Amino acid sequence: MTQQRDPSRPIRIGMIGTGFMGQLHSAAYKTIPLIYRDTVPSFELVRIAGRSNVADAARHYGWAQATDDWHAVTEAEDIDLVDIVTPNDTHAAMVISAARHRKIIVCEKPVALDGQQARLMGQAVADAGVAATVCFMYRTWPAVQVARHMIGRGDIGTVHGFRGRFLHDHVSDPRDPAAWRLDPTRAGAAVIADIGSHVFDLARHLVGDVSELFATARGKLPANVRVEDEADILLRFETGATGHIWVSWLATGTGMDVGFEVHGDRGALRFTWTRPSELLFFDSRAPRDARGYSTIPLGPAHPPAAPLTEFTGMGLGFQDGFVTLLGAFLQDLRNGTSSAPTFDDGVIAAEYVDAALKSHRDRAWIPI
Ligand SMILES: NC(=O)c1ccc[n+]([C@@H]2O[C@H](COP(=O)([O-])OP(=O)(O)OC[C@H]3O[C@@H](n4cnc5c(N)ncnc54)[C@H](O)[C@@H]3O)[C@@H](O)[C@H]2O)c1
Repeated sequence: MTQQRDPSRPIRIGMIGTGFMGQLHSAAYKTIPLIYRDTVPSFELVRIAGRSNVADAARHYGWAQATDDWHAVTEAEDIDLVDIVTPNDTHAAMVISAARHRKIIVCEKPVALDGQQARLMGQAVADAGVAATVCFMYRTWPAVQVARHMIGRGDIGTVHGFRGRFLHDHVSDPRDPAAWRLDPTRAGAAVIADIGSHVFDLARHLVGDVSELFATARGKLPANVRVEDEADILLRFETGATGHIWVSWLATGTGMDVGFEVHGDRGALRFTWTRPSELLFFDSRAPRDARGYSTIPLGPAHPPAAPLTEFTGMGLGFQDGFVTLLGAFLQDLRNGTSSAPTFDDGVIAAEYVDAALKSHRDRAWIPI
């Protein structure tokens, strides 16, 4: 956190993009001061940039000004933080411009179309010495934070296995508003980048860095769309643990599920987005006749969930994911901590995506 900012002045935020994420990030900024109160710095929603109906988006999302020129966000004197929520092919120019103008940066994932582009962006961020986060919001999801805490505390012993997944069944429809994801020139490595990057980040966050991987991917979409929409990826971690990731846009019947199992020599943890406010814990030290997964419902006893839940059982939802991610990043800016994902986490995920594509094409294990 090296940029010099007058801490007595509110952080002046500018956003680029008015779509799905533009709406959810805007809603999160509205909620964060109510939830995190004085633990986050004060901020103002100054300007939003977009391609169409920007004035309308500004009015509904709560931004003071609208513009159709994203440079009026990344280069503006009256902006301190740039939040980039546009399709993947646009991130590089915007991040590099924002970094050169010494803005704090929030960038949606995947950061770039490939690892090389991500490294150039990471270098620009590092050269500028600006704070930057990438929106791997499952990392800051309360159940994931509790899982990481329990792993770190030794509750499941030495981790030897990770099974992760991210499943959708709607992106394969070309009429879907998310259809730009089906164009490799706009999205990069299709399903592996779009949702696989989230699971790569979860695997690193919960188990550690991956030393090599083997991927096999499939493209089952209509013939005019030349992208991978499903993949299986085997992992070997630096710790010696092994893993498997399954990502799919074709998981019929699964609107959305992000999940994982982490197995250790003394227990295991399980999570599924279909029950996002719970974590399952298996303790193999329990008496044999009482052994089984138990459900940990998240609530005020869990610090990451506490600000969002007055009492256990209230439940958390997708919108809360952006509140916890952007809230964590704003707390980092205030406290000089690093609880939100860093830009380097985005670059590393892009390198894993490259490795997965290479493995699929070469039919070989790829060292990272
Ligand atoms: N973290 C997550 O869980 C998550 C979830 C969904 C999407 N995403 C990511 O968020 C980003 C945006 O996805 P989305 O679903 O909001 O897409 P979207 O298609 O709903 O919205 C994209 C917006 O960007 C605008 N835009 C495109 N090019 C622009 C330009 N040159 N200048 C200004 N505005 C421009 C479009 O007009 C649109 O408003 C992508 O990188 C995507 O991968 C992340």
